[in-house]
Amino acid sequence: RRDLISIDDLSLAEIRGLFHHADRFAKDLRQWSGVLPGRIAASLFYEPSTRTRLSFESAMLRLGGGVITAADMKTSSAQKGESLADTVRVVSGAYSDIMVLRHPSEGAARLATHFSEVPVINAGDGSHEHPTQTLCDLYTLWVERGRLDGLEVALAGDLRHSRTIHSFIYALARFGANIVCVPHHGLELPDYVVKRLRESYGAEPVRADASRLGALAEASDAVYITPQKPHQLSLFTDSAALPVKHVDAVYMTRMQTERHLEAKDESAYMRLGPQALQADSLRDAVVMHPLPRRDEISADMDSDPRGVYFKQASRGVPVRMAILAWLLGELELAGEPAPPPSV
Ligand code: CP
Repeated sequence: RRDLISIDDLSLAEIRGLFHHADRFAKDLRQWSGVLPGRIAASLFYEPSTRTRLSFESAMLRLGGGVITAADMKTSSAQKGESLADTVRVVSGAYSDIMVLRHPSEGAARLATHFSEVPVINAGDGSHEHPTQTLCDLYTLWVERGRLDGLEVALAGDLRHSRTIHSFIYALARFGANIVCVPHHGLELPDYVVKRLRESYGAEPVRADASRLGALAEASDAVYITPQKPHQLSLFTDSAALPVKHVDAVYMTRMQTERHLEAKDESAYMRLGPQALQADSLRDAVVMHPLPRRDEISADMDSDPRGVYFKQASRGVPVRMAILAWLLGELELAGEPAPPPSV
């Protein structure tokens, strides 16, 4: 049995394989009801969700399967004090063939795999990871940019608490992207993420000269993360900051106030709109966001063809159709499985 808990549970070949199938599904979402007839997905969401829960449920229904859901765990026996382990034991097996779990605690989805009889999909565990969001994000990059290898991607906003950023940055590093981190002040990447970037992927953070990012970088100490390839090693002996020249995609995130221990002033949070994209290196960038957003992307970005965040959300359905069909044994993916996860 395979589970999907970390983006590192998938090899790069498997990710490409999922995109091949997502592409097939996306051509006409309504013709696949013969893929998973009689199968049942359980969606257990201990935190709010619109996109992840509904796109998984839609994906399962479009594949001809069924869904049981505790859409709001406030209506489940978790409210009576039932442990996650007991809930998973009961819901997997006779009740369902696959489980989609969102939980506020880091590591909850991995824990669930020890008690589940069926594949477990991590739909977000605290600030830790959100691997299926990353598959939607990578798929969007692939569709919009025609490739994944060697892209230049700027990640902006609350990089500390955003699980979508954490899964995404691990995948980008493995695909050999140059990553420009543009965190809001005080919301830089956590040390454990930087350590994993260094130790697992050989990616090295250095100071970035973000002057060509214009207003986007005003409230930030930008950091450049480059895959540590031999021909680039000389750059790291130079104390000068690396210049950001051209960005293929800007990935903006919401301030994750629900995970902040102290209240932060959101009025000073970075904003992105067509005006900010006039900066030299951003003119050609697509703008992505996992959503939901508050004010960090202005409404006038919605009608700009560079804003692809609603397409990103709708692509969640074919991508999650591919994930469900694969984990339930109805799709073959090319390539070797990923090595065991490092954490
Ligand atoms: N992007 C994302 O995870 O959205 P939801 O919280 O609405 O599922």
